[in-house]
Amino acid sequence: MFSLKLVTRLNINLWCRRNLASTPPKISAAPSPPHKNITIHSLLLKKRKGIPISMVTAYDFPSAVHVDKAGVDILLVGDSVGMVELGYETTLPVTLDDMVHHCKAVCRGCRRPLIVGDLPFGTYERSADQAITSAMRLMKETQIDCIKLEGPRIETIKAIVESGIAVMGHIGLTPQSFSALGGFKAQGRDAHKAVLLIEQAVALEKAGCFGMVIECVPPLVAKAVTEAVTIPVIGIGAGGYTDGQVLVFHDMLGMMQHHHHAEFTPQFCKQYASVGFTIQEGLAQYIREVESKEFPGDEFSPYIMSSEEESIFKDLLEKRVANPKSAIHNSEEEVNIKVY
Ligand code: KIV
Repeated sequence: MFSLKLVTRLNINLWCRRNLASTPPKISAAPSPPHKNITIHSLLLKKRKGIPISMVTAYDFPSAVHVDKAGVDILLVGDSVGMVELGYETTLPVTLDDMVHHCKAVCRGCRRPLIVGDLPFGTYERSADQAITSAMRLMKETQIDCIKLEGPRIETIKAIVESGIAVMGHIGLTPQSFSALGGFKAQGRDAHKAVLLIEQAVALEKAGCFGMVIECVPPLVAKAVTEAVTIPVIGIGAGGYTDGQVLVFHDMLGMMQHHHHAEFTPQFCKQYASVGFTIQEGLAQYIREVESKEFPGDEFSPYIMSSEEESIFKDLLEKRVANPKSAIHNSEEEVNIKVY
């Protein structure tokens, strides 16, 4: 028999499950961000006014809730999900199914930022047709606002934009091409390659990109790129002259969930928290308390019987001890179990 307390708790859980999809969850630590979506137009306006743009990755419901609540402008469901959440060595194994799964979870957790979903390696390089099919799937099956793809794939970008999907470009270090680039290396460090980056950025804008990421280039090169285009340029490892900055959630918060990230946080990444240590401390204390039986104690054992049921229960137990073979067969549950 359920106690009133238990029934109430179950009702609350049911209510939460039914309502969280449409109502954003409440976190009391910070003020709510305005319920206003950031759009590609508001980002353009920010660039024109010289207001810096913040962008962070997120890959699941809780990280999306945090990013939304903090008031970040752009949320990127990056293919870096492969490394920081799925444990791969690179982003190459990430599939479109993976991206759909993670984009869906993120979209359930936030509404304010512009949500960008990465097209993963192998889903857009073969042809404009392949790219449009992949981009449309990500847009149809999730609630993202637009897609990002790596490299100066001008014809592909034009085709996706013409199909009605907003595209963010990505130049400089493009991790999906690490094989062709000869590793994860900074780009644009020689003058001619730096000029090439500027030309790529201009071509991305002409192709219809609403913005772009520039990764791991010298600050002066990123500055020249930023000044060469009218669309927002968001830097990562590219110095302070771009229109905005992007960091990977797990790196900037010190999650330390992937051995790469424990041993190798990128040089350009400032760590704003040590969440990984907090997690380790919490788990260690939990183990200590389970082993010492301090947890759960009375405080975390909320489901109680009425005193009447308790005394009937005690009587039944005594009878069972006195005569172990006299099992009680009159509950419906027992009858059902016997039938099947
Ligand atoms: O996938 C990702 O996280 C990215 C950022 C590094 C910009 O593309």
